[in-house]
Amino acid sequence: MESTYPELTRITRANAVLAVAALILTYLLITRIFLFRRLSHIPGPKLASWTALYLVRHQLSGRVARHVVSLSKRYGPICRIAPNWVIISSPSEVRRVWQARGPWYRGRWYEIFRFDQPIETVMSLRKNTDHAALRSKLVPGYSGKDVENIHSVIDARVADFVSLIERKYLSSKDGGFKPMDLAIKSQFFTLDVISDLAIGTCFNCLQEDSDTYGQISSITGSLPLILAMAIVPTSLLLLQNPIARALLPKDKVEGLMRQQALAQKNAARRFGESKEVRRDMMGSFVAHGLSWENVWLETFGQIGAGTDTTATAIRMTMFFLMSSPGAYNRLQTEIDTGIQEGRISSPVTDEESRKLVYLQAVIKEGLRMWPPVQGLNPKICDTEQVVCGKRIPAGTNVCWDALSVMQDKEVFGDDAEVFRPERWLDEAGVDPDRKKVMEQVQGLVFGTPSRWECLGKQIALFELNKVFVEVSSCSTV
Ligand code: HEM
Repeated sequence: MESTYPELTRITRANAVLAVAALILTYLLITRIFLFRRLSHIPGPKLASWTALYLVRHQLSGRVARHVVSLSKRYGPICRIAPNWVIISSPSEVRRVWQARGPWYRGRWYEIFRFDQPIETVMSLRKNTDHAALRSKLVPGYSGKDVENIHSVIDARVADFVSLIERKYLSSKDGGFKPMDLAIKSQFFTLDVISDLAIGTCFNCLQEDSDTYGQISSITGSLPLILAMAIVPTSLLLLQNPIARALLPKDKVEGLMRQQALAQKNAARRFGESKEVRRDMMGSFVAHGLSWENVWLETFGQIGAGTDTTATAIRMTMFFLMSSPGAYNRLQTEIDTGIQEGRISSPVTDEESRKLVYLQAVIKEGLRMWPPVQGLNPKICDTEQVVCGKRIPAGTNVCWDALSVMQDKEVFGDDAEVFRPERWLDEAGVDPDRKKVMEQVQGLVFGTPSRWECLGKQIALFELNKVFVEVSSCSTV
């Protein structure tokens, strides 16, 4: 039925729309002011107190880790980086927040590690008890207890690495100068190792001298966006929505999709009537009761967690060595002498490598100078806490400033920003108590001794222990 007073109806509707808009605006304003006030006693950039877009912008730039160092220098050991986020750079406070039996647990940032799947993985599980339960089923596989091929796989892939260099990248007077992108070749090496160990199919990047599965280009292209989405966890809903997923740029995710399909196929072979039983990582996960979905998701996540991290350790340590001739020569001499004296076999074993004191110092120092994991990795607590002397309300994301922690002058000395492996040697004469603190802080590189300590730590160290020795023994022309 038509209204007798159409004008009046229009005005009433317009008023109703205005009222609703005003209500929404007032709500948004009040929540903003509330969010602003609860951490207003923490110093930090003004914009960061009002909107997470400040942090998102820096995360998208790919240089957030460097940026937070400048914030820590300017604002001190605790700094606000978003309305509900703070970052800390005090090594002892990071250790306290990360302590194994503490009340802290993972913030929603970790949900991004579920990507588009409804099923949790060890990297995405936030509740401490659930995480510990899943983790205990994975430990035997990661520690090598159930797995017989870890060293043979790493040895074979190191041999591929050396062979690639000798085949294509040795400069000579006759052959000319043959530059090699060490950053990418290091990642070929770690990707070949982890694909072989985790999925049971080596990607053969080193043999082909290419990113065979497009995994590296996929991750490089999408990681800044993924990490920016992690800051606003509701954006994860987009990834889980099939329509939004269809809109994702195909070239950015193609490599990940191929890798996912392979992980699913290989995991499927371990189930059913004619299942394949093997003493490898997948075999260990199956033996400890993981379902098909859990198995392929864990192995898929393993490639993400274990490739760029170890490759960063290799490329950055090589970079520091190349720019420190004293350290480079000392390491080369240690390796050459070890080979001459028969203390280093071909290929070097992990046990032999652990006895090379200078090599161990180089590895430790390389990881300290440029920790491969420099993500925000926020932890939260359900009760109010005091961190770096400031009141932290329940539910606040507390992140770590990895670079500032690892280059803390009180812990590592005035030359903390310099690559100096000697600081780890007995000859440095460091007081044993101070050395213990140095070791404890450096341990945070792998999340030691938190409940989230890197599961792949041993595998990463096996790789590092072998790769420098073998690559340094490449034939020279
Ligand atoms: C130098 C190399 C590596 C470094 C520095 C490193 C560092 C870390 C750190 C700091 C964490 C804890 C993150 C958090 O706070 O939640 C972590 C977790 C993890 N890492 Fe690594 N990682 C490395 C290599 C690897 C490798 C090779 C693998 C796989 C073979 C791996 C698998 C994992 C997994 C599965 C987790 C999750 C552990 C859990 O939630 O309990 N990582 N890593």
